[in-house]
Amino acid sequence: MRKKIVAGNWKMNTLPAEGVELAKAIAAGRDQVCECVHFIVCPPFTHLLPVHDALRGSGIVLGAQDCAAEAKGAYTGEVSAAMIAATGCRYVILGHSERRQYYGETAATLNRKMAQAYAEGLAPIYCVGENLEEREAGRHLEVVRTQIEEVVYRLTPEQFASLVIAYEPVWAIGTGKTATAEQAQEIHHYIREVLAARFGAAAEECSILYGGSCKPSNAAELFSRPDVDGGLIGGAALKADDFLAIGKGFAR
Ligand code: 13P
Repeated sequence: MRKKIVAGNWKMNTLPAEGVELAKAIAAGRDQVCECVHFIVCPPFTHLLPVHDALRGSGIVLGAQDCAAEAKGAYTGEVSAAMIAATGCRYVILGHSERRQYYGETAATLNRKMAQAYAEGLAPIYCVGENLEEREAGRHLEVVRTQIEEVVYRLTPEQFASLVIAYEPVWAIGTGKTATAEQAQEIHHYIREVLAARFGAAAEECSILYGGSCKPSNAAELFSRPDVDGGLIGGAALKADDFLAIGKGFAR
C-alpha cells in the first residue's frame, strides 16, 4: 500500500515564531485525522530547527523546500543536504516550478541536488508539471514525461523506493484554479505508467501528490481518484485548520 501524504510547502511565508505556532496548532489537531495520513511540513530553512522541536512527538515529519547541488564549500547562500538532514528533516522538495522558473533550475542541476539528497538520507519530493501554454497546446503529458525521464530515470531502484512525486500544474499554483479530479487522475495515471516503464512494479508503491490550489473544499474529490495519493499544499498549508481539513479528505 502506498503512503497517503499531505505535505505543506510554506514557501517564503511566516517568521520563525509564527511558523512554530502554526506547527504547534497542526500537531495539536493531528488526532482529528486518520493515522493513515502521513503529514509533512516544509518551512523555510530558518525555521527547521524550532519547527522540528514543535512537532516532536506528533508523528508529523519535517521537510525542506530545496537543497544545494554541492556537498559543502564556497557556495555563499546555499544550504547543504547534510545541514538539512541535521535539523531532523526527512524530506526535501526538489524541482518546484518556482525554482525552475525563477532560479533557472535545469535537469542537470536537479540531478546533482537529487544525488545530494539521497547521500544524506533525505527522500526527495520531486515536482513536475506543465504551464498554461503547454497545457493549451496539448503537450502536458510530454512535458511531465520529459521531466521524469531527465531526472527520475537516473535513479537506482533503491533510490526510487523512497521518492515521492508531486504533479503541480503551473497554471493551478496559487491561482485558485484547480485541475479537475479527472484531469489529475489522467496525468497521475500517466506518470505512474512512465515510472513503471523504468521501475516496473515499484511504480505502484510510489506516492504521487497533486499540487495547485488544493484546499479543504476539493481535497476529498481529488483524493478519491485511484492514482492521487495526496497533496502538496501551498496557501492552504498556512492555516492549521485548512491543512488538517485537507487530511480529512481521505476517507477514514
Ligand atoms: P498553492 O496550493 O498555493 O496553489 O501552491 C501549490 C504549490 O506550489 C505547492 O508546492
